Amino acid sequence: MNTDFWLDRWNKNEIAFHQSDIHPMLVKHWSALTQPRHNVLVPLCGKSKDMHWLQHQGLEVVGSELSEIAMQDFIEDCEASFTSRTVASFTSHKAVGYHLIVGDFFALNKNQIGSIDSVYDRAALVALPQDMRDQYVEKLKDLLEPKTEILLITFTYDQSKREGPPFSIDPAEVDRLYSSWCQITQLETVATNELGEDNPTTESCYRLVVS
Ligand SMILES: C[S@@+](CC[C@H](N)C(=O)[O-])C[C@H]1O[C@@H](n2cnc3c(N)ncnc32)[C@H](O)[C@@H]1O
Repeated sequence: MNTDFWLDRWNKNEIAFHQSDIHPMLVKHWSALTQPRHNVLVPLCGKSKDMHWLQHQGLEVVGSELSEIAMQDFIEDCEASFTSRTVASFTSHKAVGYHLIVGDFFALNKNQIGSIDSVYDRAALVALPQDMRDQYVEKLKDLLEPKTEILLITFTYDQSKREGPPFSIDPAEVDRLYSSWCQITQLETVATNELGEDNPTTESCYRLVVS
C-alpha cells in the first residue's frame, strides 16, 4: 500500500471511503475526550467532512494527506480563504481553523504540525496493512506528547473473506499497537453493513490517552 496506490485512487476518483455525512461516532464520542482540546491532528485525512465538524467545535484542524486532489476538493468545499506555501516535499494550506499539510505523513515532524492535544483517526489506521500500522504508530509516538487523546474508529471482520483496505483491526490489534504507550477505553461497538451485506462487520470507537 505505497503512496502511488493512494494517489492513483484519487486520480481515478475511486474513493468509496469518503463519506458525505459527518461520522456519527465522532459526534457521539468526541466529548469522551476529557482534556482541554485546541489542536486536533487528523492523519490521512482525505477530504473528510469530519474536519469541518471539528473546526466548527472551535478547534484548529491539522490535516495530513498525500493527495493534492483531496485537499483542493476539501478547500473548494470550505468557505474559508486559504493561503498556500510549498517547502521541500510538503505543501501547507492555511485558513482560519485549518492547517492542511499535503505530503507523506511518515515524513512529518513536530515542527510542521505544531502543538497537538488530540487526534481523530477515522479510516487512517484501518487503511494500512500490518507492517505500515507499526510504522504509523511509531510516527504517532514521535509526534504526540503525554496526555494527548486519540479518538480511534476501526472495523472488525473476517479478513480471510475480504482484502483490505480497509483492514480488520480487532481489539487485540488495538491492544498490540497502543497498550504499551496509551490507556485504552473501548467506547462503542456496533454492527455495520458498510463493507457489504455478505461480510458481517462491526465498527468500534476507542478513546486512547497517551501515557
Ligand atoms: C481510507 S482513506 C481515509 C480518508 C479520511 N480519513 C476519511 O475518513 O475519509 C486514507 C487516506 O490516507 C491517505 N494517505 C495514505 N497514505 C498516506 C501517507 N503516507 N501520508 C498522508 N496521507 C496518506 C490517502 O490518500 C487517503 O486519502
